[in-house]
Order: sequence, then structure tokens, then C-alpha cells
Amino acid sequence: MKITVIGCGYLGATHAACMAELGYEVLGVEVNQRKRDLLTAGKVPFYEPGLEDLLAKHVASGRLRFTDSIQDAADFADVHFVCVGTPQLPSSMGADVSYVEAAVTGLAPHLTRPAVVIGKSTVPVGTAGRMAGILADLAPVGSAAELVWNPEFLREGFAVKDTLEPDRVVLGVASARSEQVLRDFYAPILETGTPLIVTDYATAELVKVSANAFLATKISFINAVSEVCEASGADVVDLADAIGHDARIGRRFLNAGIGFGGGCLPKDIRAFVHRAGELGVEDAMTFLRQVDDINQRQRSRVAQIATAMLDGDVTRARIAVWGAAFKPDSDDVRDSPALSIAGKLHLRGAHVTVYDPQANETARAMFPTLDYAGSAIEAAQDADLLLHLTEWPEFRRVDVAAVSAVVRRPQLLDGRNLLDLEAWRSAGWTARGLGRR
Ligand code: UGA
Repeated sequence: MKITVIGCGYLGATHAACMAELGYEVLGVEVNQRKRDLLTAGKVPFYEPGLEDLLAKHVASGRLRFTDSIQDAADFADVHFVCVGTPQLPSSMGADVSYVEAAVTGLAPHLTRPAVVIGKSTVPVGTAGRMAGILADLAPVGSAAELVWNPEFLREGFAVKDTLEPDRVVLGVASARSEQVLRDFYAPILETGTPLIVTDYATAELVKVSANAFLATKISFINAVSEVCEASGADVVDLADAIGHDARIGRRFLNAGIGFGGGCLPKDIRAFVHRAGELGVEDAMTFLRQVDDINQRQRSRVAQIATAMLDGDVTRARIAVWGAAFKPDSDDVRDSPALSIAGKLHLRGAHVTVYDPQANETARAMFPTLDYAGSAIEAAQDADLLLHLTEWPEFRRVDVAAVSAVVRRPQLLDGRNLLDLEAWRSAGWTARGLGRR
């Protein structure tokens, strides 16, 4: 079977390479020439472990190609995946679905044979129904051009594994025919016992945003509790371990720290509240505003604690920041709490030097006025305070004595609660976490 993937950003490039791995012939449609040239050369325009090998393998085998022409896509296949982005609108908390709409309206007039168009982008509930209408109106084959909504749950850093071995497959369908096309298409994944949920468009759309909203809520819950831990002398890591043993709660996504960022969780919860408002049920979702507020407060809280550790004045202080990406195994700095904290302290007058194993360049493009170092030790040179903000494994392996030898004041704030504070303290450091003893 042949497929196309429209939009080859994070989601699309991963989907295209993974579907080629499953044995399909894939044509990726990417309008950005720089990205398209890189992908055509077998290179991934961002950092994602394992993806470049897979992409290069299938570009070399000829099973994976790229184009900028939607006409080529319509000629090539009858199964089309829409994987374009839905960023936050500049003017509101809502999601910008114009790229999804452009993909559907661009493709539809070329559909002269029965086809299935599968939306994978994260969209406000109601979008799929609207896209199905546009498709049927504009496609020369009319209602034989069908829409399926098939949300994606991949995590950055684990994108290949999450795509090839997902926790579940969700299909929002409007006909038995399109359901069968997708069941056949995903057979290699479903045969391994992956749960399949077949439902309507609205439920499929809401599954995706509800999953991200729940994860965000878990993180903000533990971060709120960490503030109480701090005020009362309790330890949030012990607490999370203890409540996490309750299978109904679970330990994952209970790591207190500087909070969540990235291109998904922050914008998805805002878009969810916004859409609930449009549907007249905003009150039901107002708690998500608090989830967002708690998350933002973590960033200010860290800046405040850092300032206190510098005796109340950050001007002229040198601050080393370990980590800029919103999470490890990624060079993504979109809405990154690490970079936001680095930026806050810089704007208050501190001299901030950042080191991230992969994200120095993406961070520099977003925040050029910070200093960037080539290693963890170089960043710590003459520092009055060291902030551990993205939990790359190399920061846990660092030789504390080597860091002690270069800093001006041995002070550490672990914004991810993952460093061995006792080891740092026994090396003479003032070391603290967030909500930790
Ligand atoms: C998230 C979801 O986890 C995926 O299931 C979803 O498919 C994806 O969004 C999406 O909508 O595309 P991702 O943005 O890659 O994936 O990152 P996560 O692993 O969810 O982490 C998000 C943020 O939460 C990171 O900044 C991370 O540091 C933070 N986090 C995570 C915590 O602060 N504490 C935790 O315990 C866990």
C-alpha cells in the first residue's frame, strides 16, 4: 500500500519514516524547502534519537520520498495522513487550525478516486466534522473521499518507539469502509495486541486533548504539593514515591520540578479551555487555567529561590544553567521552562551561561543574548550559582569535584529533583531541590 504524509514536521517526519519501516511506500509532502531538502538527503531537521537512521534507511531504499506538490500526493496514493501543526493563535488561547484546513482544502480538489484522509494533528473538538464536510464538498469523488481522525500520542525523545509500539490506536470514523482501511493499514501494529478504540470524530479529538490535559494536571498537582512540602519541611520525592505505589495514582508524571513545556502540553490545555468556552462549558474546564498558572508559577518560584540564594541580588552574579531543552533527548526549546528561567534571571541583570547537550543552537536562535558554553564544566566556570534545569543523564554523571574546582561559589539548585544532593553537600556545596529536604 502507498500512503502520503502531508506536513513533515515532528509528527509527520516520524510517521513517514515509521510507516516506511512497516513496509509502506511513503510520499511526504513538505512545503518548507529547507526541511524538504534535508529530509530528501536523509537528514532530520531536529534532534530525535533513532529517527535519522530510520529516515536515511528508507530514503536510501527508495521507499520514502518527499515532494512539495499536493497534486503528486493525490496521484501517488489513496490514503493520506494530515500531520501539520496546530500552534497557539497569537491573539488568543485557541489553536490555529489553518494549516489543517489548508491541507484538506488543498488536497480535496485533486481526489478523483475514492480516498481516505486521516487527520493526526491535535485539534479542537469539532474540527474533524468540519473537515469531513469540506472534503466531501470539494473532492470530485464527493462522499467517496472519507475522513478518519487518528490522534497521535508520541513523546519527543521516544517518537520512533511510540509510533511503532503505541499504547493504543484510536480511530474516529464515520463509516465501516474507512474503519476497515485503517484496521488493515495498522494490522502490523494491532497484531501485536495493541488496544484499538474505534469511536466517533468528537471522541477521538477529545481523547487526545484529555490525555495531555490529564498529564499536565498530574505535573501541576505534584508541583503545587511540592510548594507545601517546602513550607512544611517535607520531601516531595518521598511523597511521590509513596503515593505512586497506589496503582490508581501511579508514579509516572509525578516528578516535581520546574514544570512542563514543549510544543504540546502548554498549548493543548489552553486550547482545551478556549474550546470549552466556545461550547458554553468553560466552567467545567477552569481548573485547567490553574494547572497552567501553577506551571507558570514554578518558573517564577525558581527565579525567586535563585535570587534568594544570591543574597537577594542577581545583578553581576554569574549563573550557570544546565539544560535549555524542554526535556532531555530533544533540542526543542518551545515554551521551555529551562530557557524561560534562564531568560528571567538574565533580564534581572545576572550573567547567565547556558549549556545543553543538544539545544544550544535552538536556544541561541530564540534567546541570543544569553551566553552559551560547549560543556557543563565550561558553563560552570566562575559561577555563583548552578541551576540544573533539564535532566540530561550527563548532568547526573558529572564529576562533582571537577565542577567544584571551577565555580566561584558552590551553590546548586536542582530544578528537576534528580541530582544526588547529599553527594553535592558532602563536597561542600549548598545544594537544594524544589520541595525537598
Ligand atoms: C506530550 C505527551 O506526553 C505525548 O503523549 C503527546 O503525544 C505529546 O505531548 C503531543 O501532544 O504531541 P511531549 O511534549 O513530548 O509529549 O513531552 P512529555 O514527555 O509529555 O513532557 C512534557 C513536559 O512535562 C516536559 O517539559 C517534562 O519535563 C515535563 N514533566 C514530565 C515534568 O515536569 N514532570 C513529570 O513528571 C513529567
